[in-house]
Parts: sequence; structure tokens; C-alpha cells
Amino acid sequence: MSSDSTVKKIGVLTGGGDSSGINAVLHGICLEARRLGIEVVGFREGWRGLIEGSYTPLSFDMTIKEVDRSGTILKTSRTNPYRIASAQGKIAKTIKELKLDGLIAIGGNDTLTVASNLYDDLKIPVVGIPQTIDNDVPGTEYCVGFDTAVHNVVEAIRNVRATCDSHQEDIVVEVMGRQSGWIAAVAGLTAGAEFILLPELSFDSQKLVDVLKERHANGFYSNVIVVAEGVKGIDHTKIEAGTDAFGNVMLAGIGLGLRDYLQDKLNKKTRAIVLSYIQRGGRPTSYEVFTALGFGRSAVKALFEGKTDLMIAFRDGTLRPVSLSLAQGTRKVDAELVEMVKELTLL
Ligand code: F6P
Repeated sequence: MSSDSTVKKIGVLTGGGDSSGINAVLHGICLEARRLGIEVVGFREGWRGLIEGSYTPLSFDMTIKEVDRSGTILKTSRTNPYRIASAQGKIAKTIKELKLDGLIAIGGNDTLTVASNLYDDLKIPVVGIPQTIDNDVPGTEYCVGFDTAVHNVVEAIRNVRATCDSHQEDIVVEVMGRQSGWIAAVAGLTAGAEFILLPELSFDSQKLVDVLKERHANGFYSNVIVVAEGVKGIDHTKIEAGTDAFGNVMLAGIGLGLRDYLQDKLNKKTRAIVLSYIQRGGRPTSYEVFTALGFGRSAVKALFEGKTDLMIAFRDGTLRPVSLSLAQGTRKVDAELVEMVKELTLL
């Protein structure tokens, strides 16, 4: 394909928590790069690959086999270049030595914030792609990985529901999402959970006990309680201490804490499952793969056209570039969905 574009070689990295659909993004990148005659290199383990100069060539023939496989063939890490001495200089050196004309960063809020800061500090031509099961990157309505995570949670709830019904037990299902309740809201509603606890809503543990007591008295002994890991209002008796390289508190434990609390207050056996990485893996849904291909292709197209400091966003059903600076912070569940959770569930 003939063009005036000076973009001949680009790099790509996958940072932060993985999800299903990343390999499909990589394939979308390679598809478009092949069409435009661009060479692609993949950095290993997120920003660490750029700092340490660890990379591998990527091509259509490599990624086509991985298009519907979860995880990331490039591996990932939560490396924060802004917490490592001289990391910025090393990144600039790697980009110069490889003669890269642009960089695609695939990841969540942390990865994309680093990309945006590196653009500001080093003027690296960069385009971001939002990828996180949390679906909480501001500026986009969809992040790669979310649909599959929801699908995985719904399947898990279906799998435990029948047994809980047979044994007339309540079950607490802890899902991920950090400080936002997207997975809990969408999966909980889809699976018909009786209770959905979101970080966006205040949670009254005594009220939950009262409503459950009433349900039991009326013969409804088996209830699914979906709880987002970021919910506050009960002692996180088993919460993991510590923070990661980006200062995020590492959450895990509210589900088991809530189970103990309910068992104690209701004097009735209650189960709990912590879905953890079940949500992040598994074969990506067709929607996921199809959307991910579009994200990858759009990012290459943007770089090829000389655009930079952008994130490919999904808005109103289409993919479009927006300012990368939008990706900072956390996108909470929108008011309409929170209202729906309130209307369609108990509490
Ligand atoms: O951001 C994605 C996510 O899965 C969060 O929902 C969760 O809190 C966190 O990553 C877990 O991180 P790690 O993979 O480091 O345990």
C-alpha cells in the first residue's frame, strides 16, 4: 500500500492485569500493520520490556493462532516506570535504538496513565487501548476483557445456583472490579442474583441480614448475593494487606468476611466463592474478539495517520480516538445502571 506516512515500525506492550481478548487486540494490530506495510515488535512484560529492551517481533502468522486464546502472549507486569530510577531514559533509548515510529499501550488506568505521562515527558508517539475486566477506564464505555469476565461470572453463578437451591443455602459470590461495580452490576443482573452489592452504593450489613431473615421466613432459603470486592461497610476480615507498584490497595476477602458475618447472624450455613482469576481467563466471547480486533486496527491506523497522545475509545457503539489524558482515574458505574440494580434486586 503506498502512502506518505513515515510510520514504518511500531512497538506494542500489554501492562497491568490481563484479561481475555488481549491476544485478539494484538492480532488486530498485526492485521492492520500487515495491510499498511508496518513492522511490529512486542515488548515483554509491560513497561518492563521497554525499560530492559526485552522484545520479540510480532506478525500476522504468529497472532492468528492466538486470536481467541486468553491471557497475553507478551506476558504482563505491573511495572511502574515512574517508580524506577532512570527508567524514562532507558525507555527513550530502547525506542531510539529500535527506530520505533510509535507505541501502542494496552492496559487499564495505570498503564494508560503512564503512557500519557511518557508522551508529556518524552514526546513518544503513543496510542492507548483500554483493557481491563473492571471496565472502569474513563473516556470509554467499553474496555477489552469486560464481556468475557461478565460471561465467566454468569456461568459460575449458573453452576452454583442449582446446588444452592437443592440444599437451600445462600451463597455469596465475590467478584473483582476494584472501586467500581461494573462486573457485579452487569453479571449480577444477567444471572438473576437476588442481591447485588456495589461500591457505588452504601451497604448496610444489618439490613441485608433482616431482608434475608424475612426471605427465609417466606420460604426463599436460597439467595445469590453478588458482592464487588471494593464494597465497604463490613469488616474485610480477610482482606489482603499492601499496595501494588501503582499504589492500588490489593483487595480480596470481602466475600469470605461477609459469609462469616451472615452465618453468624443467621445461624444458617452460607457458602461463599471468590471468583478471582476465573474472571480474567477463559475463551473470549465472540463479541470480545470482534471488538478487540477493531481496537487493535484503529490504534495502528491512528499512528499511521500521524495521530498520537490518543486512546481508542468505544463510544455510542463506535470506536473513535479521544485524548489519552482522559484515561486517568476511575469510571464508576453510571447512575442509570445503579438505579436498575436498586430496582431489580432486593435491599
Ligand atoms: O484490574 C484488574 C483486577 O483484576 C482487579 O479487578 C483486581 O482487584 C486486581 O486486578 C487484582 O490484581 P492482581 O492480578 O495483581 O491480583
